[in-house]
Amino acid sequence: MNVLGIETSCDETAAAVVSCGLVVRSNVVFSQTDLHRPYGGVVPEVASRNHSAYLPGIAEKAVSLSGLAWAQMDAVAATYGPGLASSLLVGLAFGKALAIVLRIPFVAVNHLEAHLYAPFMSPGAPDFAASCPLVALVVSGGHTCLIRADAPGKYRLLGTTVDDAAGEIFDKGAKLLGLPYPGGPEISRLAEGGDPGAIAFPRGRLSADTVGGLRAGLCFSFSGLKTSLLYCLKRGGGAKENCSRADIAASYQEAIVDSLCARLELAASVEGVRCVAVGGGVSLNRRLREKIVAMADKNGLKALFSAPEFCMDNAAMVAGVAGCGLGLRGRVAWEIDARPNFDPDFFK
Ligand code: KG4
Ligand code: ZN
Repeated sequence: MNVLGIETSCDETAAAVVSCGLVVRSNVVFSQTDLHRPYGGVVPEVASRNHSAYLPGIAEKAVSLSGLAWAQMDAVAATYGPGLASSLLVGLAFGKALAIVLRIPFVAVNHLEAHLYAPFMSPGAPDFAASCPLVALVVSGGHTCLIRADAPGKYRLLGTTVDDAAGEIFDKGAKLLGLPYPGGPEISRLAEGGDPGAIAFPRGRLSADTVGGLRAGLCFSFSGLKTSLLYCLKRGGGAKENCSRADIAASYQEAIVDSLCARLELAASVEGVRCVAVGGGVSLNRRLREKIVAMADKNGLKALFSAPEFCMDNAAMVAGVAGCGLGLRGRVAWEIDARPNFDPDFFK
């Protein structure tokens, strides 16, 4: 089963060929970051225009690098959401058109399921089904979700953010610190050598018991952290004297990482769960990985992370989902429109 995957949910134009949901034959990503950096964030109009311009060439490159012929493709898979509407539309329309021309099935893939699946595509990773039940943490520029997987395709949303996503809070914090977009890698670099305990930034605990039917203790809130950083910088540094920019960045990063790690620990501390899987752009963060590994060791859990090339948006994870039998198929897939919003019902 060779699947050509297409991913255009945000500002990465990506195509990949994956066999049997696991063997990545090619994984081509054109990151538009340089085009959006001057604006300090992703501009939807710029993103969709560039998807239109580059996607055909990227798909062609993915097939050619795979060593397979177009005629050997068994299905085309594309992301239908969540993401930027105008960006999703490009990949979805292109994917459907390709499937029609090639006379092969079309599979519509949920972007969060793709991030959730990505850790299982990494070399040496255990089998997805055999690792269930597990708790997945999906942390990206647009999403922060805790999802329980009882089996592939059988999910339950445990927690989500009530305001900003983890990646967004890295990006916004970087902006306040005068660092370029995207902010995650910048803050992480500045934090090296800083003292993560220099400033006690808030960990975003929610006072209510439930949030939209979810346990509040498993939900995230980062907006207070951002405001706290703003006031800290207005004061000219931290509460302590001689607080360096590295100390501020390290403390800010620590607050994000702690709040992700603590809720993941709580979500995974239930009977039967033996594995935590972490995916999405923010899972590239070294401090987050260190803390999750330590938390998992303490609790006798196996911690699985996406390989670096599958953390940020990519099409291999989309083709992977389709190749292992997941995703929407048949008439539903052909008829589906771009779905920009996060749909909690997908995980019910
Ligand atoms: O998964 P992704 O490509 O986008 C979405 O699906 O939304 O993730 C992009 C996000 C950006 O917010 C970026 O700042 C963050 O991932 N990121 C990081 C790191 N590398 C990328 N955040 C923290 N530490 C990093 N090393
Ligand atoms: Zn993503």
